[in-house]
Amino acid sequence: MPLSRRGFLRIVGSREEAFSGALIAARGLEAYYAEQQAPGARSRPVLPPGVEEIRINSNENPLGPGRLALDAILGKFPEANRYPFNSSPADTNLVDAIAAKYKVKPENVVLGAGSQEILKNAVRAFTSPERHLVTAAPTFENCTNTAKKLKHGLKEIKVDANFRLDIQPMIDASPGAGLVFFNNPNNPTATVHGAKTVADFVAKVRSLAPQAVILIDEAYHDYVTDPSYESAIPLALATPNVFVARTFSKAYGMAGMRIGYAIGRAETIKPLATLKMPYNVSVFGVAAAIASLDDPQHIADERERNTKVRDFTVQALTSLGCKPTESQGNFVFVDIARPAKEFREACAKSGVMVGRDFPPFEKTHARISIGTMEEMQKAVDVFRNVLRAATTTAGGKGRF
Ligand SMILES: Cc1ncc(COP(=O)(O)O)c(C=O)c1O
Repeated sequence: MPLSRRGFLRIVGSREEAFSGALIAARGLEAYYAEQQAPGARSRPVLPPGVEEIRINSNENPLGPGRLALDAILGKFPEANRYPFNSSPADTNLVDAIAAKYKVKPENVVLGAGSQEILKNAVRAFTSPERHLVTAAPTFENCTNTAKKLKHGLKEIKVDANFRLDIQPMIDASPGAGLVFFNNPNNPTATVHGAKTVADFVAKVRSLAPQAVILIDEAYHDYVTDPSYESAIPLALATPNVFVARTFSKAYGMAGMRIGYAIGRAETIKPLATLKMPYNVSVFGVAAAIASLDDPQHIADERERNTKVRDFTVQALTSLGCKPTESQGNFVFVDIARPAKEFREACAKSGVMVGRDFPPFEKTHARISIGTMEEMQKAVDVFRNVLRAATTTAGGKGRF
């Protein structure tokens, strides 16, 4: 018998109860992914009884989807038996909604099971042992890891002294490349390049490496407050061999729903459509994403909330003697003058989970995601104790 929405709610209790715990439990996807991938991976630490977990390790939106998206998810339970093409709204409706948002045609959009499907397929489609990937270090590692697994060529360019993507060396590495990965803002360093720098970069890469595809990953687009920044979507639509990857996992608060997309000229992104897994997005994700696109206020509110909590966190870390980079995301990358592993493990004992190692800065820097204000206030207290303990054990010689 089909389950009605009301029947579902009766079973799970109130919406708030059903979802608040589930949302918190669902946080940590990127961390899980990294644990599976990283050499020397460790399992999640077991917390002492009664210690509350604060997961600020995966750059997720701590509040989850907006109300319209949650309603859409709940409304889909009776259609959980349907494939996404055979459901209403269907996956093609999401493609249409994204296309309408950017005033493009459906063939300018390819959906992914998260933007990771897009990134992975871009490496499969555009690189080879002879045509290398140009990427940064550190940056989001999906493309790097895929190229390594496939034994395709790889050139990793260390970020500059301000922890921004190092433009000129990336251009210099582009001749002969198949794909150039440009993460703006860059995860984990949180820094951003302005629109003019991105346009100049694209023009120079295109003149030196016209065969290379340039992938501009804007996963954190909605969190940027730097006025020099603009989305590269118009640039991608106007320029052959350039496309942008976007996700509903960050500001939209839907990391567990797994919806991302590529947007660019049809001929550029066609190989991604060819490689994508059949029925790669769920009916829940499709419905929630369509509802979210009708709710721009949710994104504006989330950006404002994140900016306030980010400012608090940056100030608090600075007052503890740490040096955060200029953050334009929902996370900070901060010089703690000690190995990230030590800091991470010490914080975890108090339930505060911060990001993994990010070579080549794993001996000095930690990545801390922005949770709620309440979470960050608690986390800062833990950071203070952990960093103070470092000073004590170093006989007062440490910076803290
Ligand atoms: C820069 C960047 N791109 C892409 C992703 C992948 O996001 P998803 O696959 O959830 O869309 C992440 C996740 O943390 C990210 O940081």
